[in-house]
Amino acid sequence: MPAAPELARPLTLGGALLGALARDARIGTPAYAYDLDGVAREARELRAAFEGKPHLVAYAVKANSAGPIVRALAAEGCGADVVSGAELLVATGAGIPPASIVYSGVAKTDDELALAIGTGDRGIGAVQLESAEEIERVAARARALGKKARVSVRVNPDVGLEELDTHAHIATGHDEAKFGIPLVDGAAAVDRVLALPELVLVGLTSHAGSQLTVTRGYVAAARALFEFTGSIRGRAPALAYVDAGGGFGIDYGEGCPARPMDFVREVRAEQERAGLGDLALYVEPGRSLVAAHGVLLARVIQPKVTRGRRWLMIDAGMNDLIRPALYGARHRIVPLDGEGGDLVEWRVVGPCCESSDDFGTHVLPAAPPWGVALLDAGAYGYTMASRYNGRPLPAEVFLKGGRIVAVRERKSRGAWVEERLGI
Ligand SMILES: Cc1ncc(COP(=O)(O)O)c(C=O)c1O
Repeated sequence: MPAAPELARPLTLGGALLGALARDARIGTPAYAYDLDGVAREARELRAAFEGKPHLVAYAVKANSAGPIVRALAAEGCGADVVSGAELLVATGAGIPPASIVYSGVAKTDDELALAIGTGDRGIGAVQLESAEEIERVAARARALGKKARVSVRVNPDVGLEELDTHAHIATGHDEAKFGIPLVDGAAAVDRVLALPELVLVGLTSHAGSQLTVTRGYVAAARALFEFTGSIRGRAPALAYVDAGGGFGIDYGEGCPARPMDFVREVRAEQERAGLGDLALYVEPGRSLVAAHGVLLARVIQPKVTRGRRWLMIDAGMNDLIRPALYGARHRIVPLDGEGGDLVEWRVVGPCCESSDDFGTHVLPAAPPWGVALLDAGAYGYTMASRYNGRPLPAEVFLKGGRIVAVRERKSRGAWVEERLGI
């Protein structure tokens, strides 16, 4: 029988502390616990990789939009990559300067565009344009507001899935993706932007995909972006940055040879080679800043042992952490107590009425532990949570220096009932 995984990666979140949090009546389970020190350290290390050259780490707020997380990253000098008006308001509310915010997304509403163009004195850093149609819509909004909009054209670098080495649902840079403007249409898009007096072209962007564990595909996408940038640069006098996107992977237990700074160093070298060293380099990491610094705490409700099969039923489900059901993702699971003794394989499942509410098979104590922690759940966990089956959103607890600094309590069951019946 293989050994149970160590509770080593959540760093300052030791097993005893997690057990105490899960048992804390103010918090209870299911609950996300985050280590703000780990998040801040991640940002510092990444920013150091730019070696003082002009840059922006535009944190992808979609990964984790909790105020304490975004404020911690703002304090480290990060900007933000947002994909909705609500995320934009979280970013500015957490102290990120509007000029350090870029806005991605394939279908921004007129109302959201107006918010982006109207934020601060000069609008946000850039609205990232994802289609020829959107160019006209952003110009129309700016015209209606009597303002200029700073924009970036997001080109789709057409990097294949094989090169990216990630899951099809989180690879975005290949040519059938709904994101970005195909590279071959990039020059026409740039010319259209330059012809519209309401728009100022400040950047060019690409984003290849997510959870990239090697640098190859990311660097290939950046190389394509830089080549394109070189070809149009002479006509774009206000161009100030190139943005290679997010997607740096983390080690979910199956290894991740490339670290976030490796992506930055390799892309910076490409940027210099392309003769674009004077432009700022933007990156848009989400997962790599937060994933390893959050865990999902759950209580074991009961075992079910039948015909030689062993199920461990926990009180966290796919509504709390959907990544396994959505992408076939695997999160390591460790016991909060009951370590030692015999180990067996348990199929860990949640309470939702879906067979995909399944966290996979894990080696855990034969005597069911009181609770478990699902590791590396700090990104795309709470932000993707739902109230499916009338289950309240999980609680969240934030730690600094090993101490609780903020708690967001779970909403009551009654709140859901009232809302549904109140229609
Ligand atoms: C445009 C864009 N930027 C950044 C990100 C963040 O990716 P990750 O969390 O993998 O770093 C995404 C993820 O989907 C994205 O679509």
